[in-house]
Amino acid sequence: MDVDGSGAGTEGEVAERWDDEYRRGRYRDEPPVAMVETVIEEARARGLRSGLYIGCGNGRNLVPLREAGLDLVGLDVSGEALEALRERLPDLPPDRLVRGTVDDLPPGARFPLVVGIQVFQHGTRARCHDHVRTAAGLVSPGGLLCVRVNAVGTHVHPEHDVVETHPDGGLTVRYRVGPKKGLDVHFFAEDELRAAVPADFEPVVAPTRVTERRVPPAPGHWCQWEAIWQRAA
Ligand SMILES: C[S@@+](CC[C@H](N)C(=O)[O-])C[C@H]1O[C@@H](n2cnc3c(N)ncnc32)[C@H](O)[C@@H]1O
Repeated sequence: MDVDGSGAGTEGEVAERWDDEYRRGRYRDEPPVAMVETVIEEARARGLRSGLYIGCGNGRNLVPLREAGLDLVGLDVSGEALEALRERLPDLPPDRLVRGTVDDLPPGARFPLVVGIQVFQHGTRARCHDHVRTAAGLVSPGGLLCVRVNAVGTHVHPEHDVVETHPDGGLTVRYRVGPKKGLDVHFFAEDELRAAVPADFEPVVAPTRVTERRVPPAPGHWCQWEAIWQRAA
């Protein structure tokens, strides 16, 4: 993946911030996102049983996906996340957890199922598009690309500066405070997300915007696109 240093927040910095978040207990007791059920259904319908989960975190989604019979490799830049996962899944073969990015996978690796939940949003627009395209390139012919990613319409919080806008509506912010202080985070417009996925993919579940109210006293709501594409066989 070409990250070329653009924008604020190298992958090392992103990893450090997420290590801190997981040490504070982020996601530890959270249920899976609803999209997990859809991923399981669509994978089963096609007889897909293995894959890759990019940015797997500490397991709120990876664990139920694996329990449903999907043998997914978990990839994450956060060592803290992977340590927590090893504790939750002590029998997991060591090669099923990889610390790093898509660049750290063996050359030519392909997976019937590639899942990215709230990961293709770290960095600038260009960096996020590159990440989506690289993830798509890892999908085997006939396989599925399953994406949940920040959507425009989110009430962005806490304090931040908008550092990039585009006529399609997509935007990037740099937080001034909070756990992502100094980092760039991208919010996709619908057409932008559709266009970021290569042309040899057909939507199986068209991008759907899911809105969740923040837990008060945090204000407003958060929006995510959820979508699944199939690569041409
Ligand atoms: C918002 S969390 C989501 C975690 C998990 N998908 C979930 O829903 O519980 C984003 C995760 O992506 C990881 N991450 C960020 N950039 C990454 C990259 N380039 N490659 C792999 N993991 C990354 C972070 O360490 C973090 O664990």
